[in-house]
Amino acid sequence: MRIRLHILVALSTLASTCAIPVFAGQWHATGSLVCTECHVEHGTENRQEIPGGPFGYLLKKSTINELCLSCHDGTDPTAPDVLTPVSMYSSTSSGEGSAGSFNQTGISTGGGHLLGITALAPLQSGGTASELTCASCHAVHGNGNYRNLLEDPANDGSNYEVVQGRDVFVLHNPDVPPTAAGSNAAYERNNVGYAANYSLWCTSCHNLIRSNRTSTPPAHFNGHPTDVPIDNNAPESHSDPAHWTAGTGEGFPGVTDGSGIPRVPFLSPHAADFTASRTPQSSNQVFCLSCHKAHASPNAKGLLWPYNEGGAAFIGSCQQCHNK
Ligand code: HEC
Ligand code: HEC
Ligand code: HEC
Ligand code: HEC
Ligand code: HEC
Ligand code: HEC
Repeated sequence: MRIRLHILVALSTLASTCAIPVFAGQWHATGSLVCTECHVEHGTENRQEIPGGPFGYLLKKSTINELCLSCHDGTDPTAPDVLTPVSMYSSTSSGEGSAGSFNQTGISTGGGHLLGITALAPLQSGGTASELTCASCHAVHGNGNYRNLLEDPANDGSNYEVVQGRDVFVLHNPDVPPTAAGSNAAYERNNVGYAANYSLWCTSCHNLIRSNRTSTPPAHFNGHPTDVPIDNNAPESHSDPAHWTAGTGEGFPGVTDGSGIPRVPFLSPHAADFTASRTPQSSNQVFCLSCHKAHASPNAKGLLWPYNEGGAAFIGSCQQCHNK
């Protein structure tokens, strides 16, 4: 009881005194942080006792994943759906959410990040087994980062900034208050353009693949290079800048050999607005999201295309940049 009272006091103090700045178009952050969406004050809701409650931190559900997914599982049409199968983006040009969608909590099929399963993070030095929750990557009370991404996901004292309007650009901001149509437009894949700093954020946890880390010769790198331009080493590039900027032929939509997939996301390092961030140029850089969805995908390793599964599209992304 003492602990619950203590948290109640903390809740009311936080509500009245917190002075985190407001960021335009941000949800679950100061200005749009609705305590009652996630917390209950007395273990009841609408006069009904919450079965099994009250829970830690006076949360409405017993786990963070369950709490967040209670809206983000497609039942709330204004909340971006992050749980497979997703129908919310069916009317958008990309047909999918920017981050991609998870499988059910505790199920280890599909590719990409798994929720509610204890696992080691691959490509992490001295990794300890842990269980991913939404709060492993998102600040539950918001912060200054794009999509409230944690500033220090690996908890090692770092401060990673991925700021909307500088590192990431969007065309449509969601409606205030949220609407289904506004959220569809705001959170679909083609509404986001990338400029910088993203790979660093991913490598906070996967720290063995810091960008361009050199390896023992003759290999140039320890992994596929990231944050390097398509015209790296031009005119001797391993990649094909002209093919990439043209956007037709092998790897691109419309090609008759079946290898075509939508143009993969890329960084536009000097972009200052959405249009520039989405313009194909030979100076675009390959980064983590050129190959992986941030959450997960139906393909192994959360890849954007069926690389391991095979079929005509297995070389899709590779050919967009390399055209071998
Ligand atoms: C009561 C329903 C509800 C719950 C519970 C909920 N969300 Fe949301 N969330 C929403 C809605 C609605 C939006 C879109 C609102 C908008 O953008 O205008 C949203 C947006 C978001 C965004 C995008 C924010 C942005 O500004 O870019 C993230 C990230 C997010 N939620 C994560 C979470 C996490 C993590 C949890 C659990 C700790 C959670 N949500 C719990 C309804 C909910
Ligand atoms: C989107 C869901 C969500 C919303 C909205 C939300 N919280 Fe929380 N809150 C959480 C979660 C999840 C935790 C537990 C965090 C953990 O276990 O690490 C938490 C923990 C807390 C804690 C205890 C830990 C701490 O950080 O001090 C306080 C106090 C708190 N919330 C206050 C608030 C107040 C006040 C509001 C409204 C202004 C609010 N919360 C709105 C999800 C939310
Ligand atoms: C491994 C890290 C990670 C985990 C775990 C994670 N997210 Fe995300 N999430 C991201 C990243 C990165 C983005 C930004 C994607 C982009 O570039 O647009 C994102 C985007 C989102 C968005 C915006 C919609 C979209 O499709 O882009 C919502 C909503 C969201 N996450 C909710 C959640 C919820 C709810 C959970 C738990 C069920 C969760 N996330 C778990 C990393 C994570
Ligand atoms: C050019 C495409 C490409 C880029 C860019 C890329 N990856 Fe990968 N990644 C892959 C492929 C393909 C696999 C699966 C095959 C393999 O393991 O080689 C993979 C596997 C992984 C794995 C799982 C390894 C394992 O042992 O299971 C992690 C973690 C990973 N990538 C993270 C990242 C991060 C973080 C970045 C950005 C710094 C990144 N990748 C950039 C294509 C890419
Ligand atoms: C909070 C730490 C954390 C962050 C940040 C993070 N990851 Fe992971 N990642 C993990 C863990 C833990 C696993 C393994 C367990 C799991 O999949 O749930 C994993 C697994 C993966 C895998 C292998 C999936 C498979 O199917 O085997 C890939 C690929 C990957 N991450 C890519 C990324 C990319 C890309 C980003 C940035 C958008 C990122 N990660 C950010 C912790 C993280
Ligand atoms: C978004 C663009 C992009 C995509 C997608 C992409 N690459 Fe690359 N790749 C590059 C760039 C840029 C370089 C560096 C070129 C250089 O330095 O000449 C590179 C380098 C390479 C190298 C040479 C590495 C070295 O050590 O020199 C190989 C091999 C390679 N990529 C294979 C692949 C494969 C296989 C795929 C598909 C799984 C793929 N790439 C997808 C852009 C891309």
